Amino acid sequence: MEKIISDLDIISEKDKNTQEVRSSKDVPSGKNRKLYIESYGCQMNFSDSEIVTSIMTGEGFETTSQAREADLILINTCSIRDKAEQTVRNRLNHFNGLKKKKPEITVGILGCMAERLKSKLLEEEKIVDLVVGPDAYRDLPKLIGQVDEGQKAVNTFLSREETYADISPVRLNSNGVTAFISIMRGCDNMCSFCVVPFTRGRERSRDPHSIVDEAKTLFSQGFREVTLLGQNVDSYKWVENEALKGKARIEKNQPAKVVNFANLLEMVATVHPDLRVRFSTSHPKDITDEVLYAMKRHDNICKNIHLPAQSGNSRILEMMNRTYTREWYIKKVDAIREILGQGCGITSDMIAGFCTETDEEHNDTITLMDYVQYDYSYMFAYSERPGTLAEKKYTDDVPDEVKKTRLAEIIDKQRALSKARNLLDLKKVHRVLIEGSSKKSEDYLQGRNDANKVVVFPRAHYAPGQYADILVTDCTSATLIGEAVQKHTN
Ligand code: SAH
Ligand code: SF4
Ligand code: F3S
Repeated sequence: MEKIISDLDIISEKDKNTQEVRSSKDVPSGKNRKLYIESYGCQMNFSDSEIVTSIMTGEGFETTSQAREADLILINTCSIRDKAEQTVRNRLNHFNGLKKKKPEITVGILGCMAERLKSKLLEEEKIVDLVVGPDAYRDLPKLIGQVDEGQKAVNTFLSREETYADISPVRLNSNGVTAFISIMRGCDNMCSFCVVPFTRGRERSRDPHSIVDEAKTLFSQGFREVTLLGQNVDSYKWVENEALKGKARIEKNQPAKVVNFANLLEMVATVHPDLRVRFSTSHPKDITDEVLYAMKRHDNICKNIHLPAQSGNSRILEMMNRTYTREWYIKKVDAIREILGQGCGITSDMIAGFCTETDEEHNDTITLMDYVQYDYSYMFAYSERPGTLAEKKYTDDVPDEVKKTRLAEIIDKQRALSKARNLLDLKKVHRVLIEGSSKKSEDYLQGRNDANKVVVFPRAHYAPGQYADILVTDCTSATLIGEAVQKHTN
């Protein structure tokens, strides 16, 4: 397989060239032009689309939810598995039809696929005019100017500093109740199966004050829940006063102060007791007892931890370069249960059929699931990604059929565990933040409890954005069903 990305080069030769040919034309106006943006992949990508929309509406673009009305179509892409990239290529085929009818449409690829394939995307997909990586969105107006002048435009520069801290995201498809806040970008781990360090670059944390300000603004706008996002939130680290580095700090006699993830969580939790705080993702090697105690101290920090195990077998974990063993992972789970109790939700990501995995090793994943009693898991068959450590070092030797069978077993196991965990919630009262109407009926509302489970109940006089105490009377493996026992004022 061709190697497309070989290291974390900050700027590739091709990018340099692209920057040299960039037009010097003034920033274009989006006046009378419509933007349609479609997002794939993780929550970070959806959050980035809100930053992109903010930049583009600042240029005068209006947003539209109809691709056929658009002058500019942006697809924010994901590279995590081959299937994710295929989905985007199918969408490009679809947009090709639109472009035939309306040739003046500009089509841009953003996100991880843009970063992975760079200008190769222009050769492979003729419809694409614009390729922009995750750290180059500020450059979008200029790049669109270049396309307006009839050129193709690429910027896949990866930054060590960019956090878009000063850009207020335009909330897309918002329910007005829950929102994501990016607290860091990139990833410095090198899990051998994973393309993210190559597509998102080095890890960097965002100024905590800008995070708290964003949470305050959201609360004043009626939002009642924020999810702090990062590939590895527990390694969040901000050195206060570092901006004043050296002389200025010494003159003012201000020692550098480190804000870690536990500190940040508490800062956001104290914005308002009615603002719920969630976070994702925690790496088992980095989550600390300090974070668990911060969760315990604040009722509004939701008791739910996304703690991807990936595998339950220590040999496979080592090959995955996850830097923990099964036993270490189990100790973390024990600490969570001890500090936060059995009720704390624990969720995971699992990969079936990683290189050389045997049936017995796969079975270790199943027994780990039994031990932890996960509330929910995201489960995948291993998909080899070009340029990753696993692609270079190991053979993707588990046959597709075996991957599928193992994945099906993991899914069945999770379904049973989810149901069992939900049964424990019966006959208990859960505090639910109401997000909107239930999917099935306007007569019912739905929201989430502390452990992030969907709870459905009769609407009565309740409304989105309120908290309600719900007595759970029934459940499926995916949903809790109940009725309100008392209205909270908020
Ligand atoms: N930063 C997060 C995960 C980001 S990617 C973490 O460390 O947990 C989301 C999930 O996709 C991963 O947890 C993993 O389970 C899955 N994944 C990543 N690369 C994959 C690959 N090559 N094949 C299959 N699943 C993969
Ligand atoms: Fe990928 Fe590992 Fe980083 Fe998660 S922690 S994004 S799985 S490299
Ligand atoms: Fe996909 Fe990139 Fe997220 S590869 S999972 S969109 S960081």
